[in-house]
Amino acid sequence: MAASDSSPTSPEDRDAHFRQLERQWQEDVGQHLLDIPHEMPGSAAVFERQFQRVIDHLDLGRPGVIAEVGCGKGHFLDQVARTAGDGGPQVVGIDLSHAVHALPAKGLDGLQADGEALPFADGSLRVMVYDGALHHLIDYRAALHDAHRTLAPGGRFVIFEPVSSPFTRLVHRLLDPIIFKQVEYESPIDQEYKHAFLEAPVLEALDELGMTWTLERTDALAYPMTGCYAGSVFARSLPFMRFVMAAEGVCERVPLVRNLLAVLAWRFLVVATKPAK
Ligand SMILES: C[S@@+](CC[C@H](N)C(=O)[O-])C[C@H]1O[C@@H](n2cnc3c(N)ncnc32)[C@H](O)[C@@H]1O
Repeated sequence: MAASDSSPTSPEDRDAHFRQLERQWQEDVGQHLLDIPHEMPGSAAVFERQFQRVIDHLDLGRPGVIAEVGCGKGHFLDQVARTAGDGGPQVVGIDLSHAVHALPAKGLDGLQADGEALPFADGSLRVMVYDGALHHLIDYRAALHDAHRTLAPGGRFVIFEPVSSPFTRLVHRLLDPIIFKQVEYESPIDQEYKHAFLEAPVLEALDELGMTWTLERTDALAYPMTGCYAGSVFARSLPFMRFVMAAEGVCERVPLVRNLLAVLAWRFLVVATKPAK
């Protein structure tokens, strides 16, 4: 942030400043990047696996509304609807930017709204999904408290987000100046708050809410090889990425290797359930 008379002085002003920058960036830049990884066969396959990891926790055979915060153009919700088929649960996406207006053409419901001010009534949702969007909410703990209000008893959060670990921070420190300064891919909040987004406060918020949760760390190999979806030579090759994902799948089944992969993981998956009563 450039020092000037208009520079934010308090933490609240700084957060407000970055919320405004984020809204503008998602509108002007972010929404136009959303299709790109899905157009590269290798990264499209890795994305499909990512979505399936989340879908595995949605219980698509049960009624009740599934909502996604930060749905972009609806790539994830589209896979949910195709997996569920006719008679599947109602799905709805919200997003900060106009990207959400791509949903109706895919037969999906979408609303332009802020994940920090949810447009859902108390107890109206069975599942709330954050697939790469919770880390865009500066006060993500408060956002989870508000989202909890919208869950029906027995409802759940499925949260799939970036890991901030010593390993990922080191790689970011080494590679960000080379990759992300060249390719405008990370949003203002991504860049400014990425080290403030941690698993521990997410889990603390879930504990405060009285939710039971499970945590898994994933994506040590194939995802970083796509260039974290920002594009790499590997992202273009479907056979190569299928081979890496198969190798990763085998490694994840070997206990000691799985522990090593957890240290090198780039993503975490939390499934949290609200008590039924
Ligand atoms: C990494 S993308 C996730 C894309 C999506 N999950 C998909 O399936 O393609 C993050 C999305 O979060 C949205 N976002 C960022 N801040 C938000 C906010 N405060 N409220 C709602 N959406 C937000 C962005 O506009 C962007 O579309």
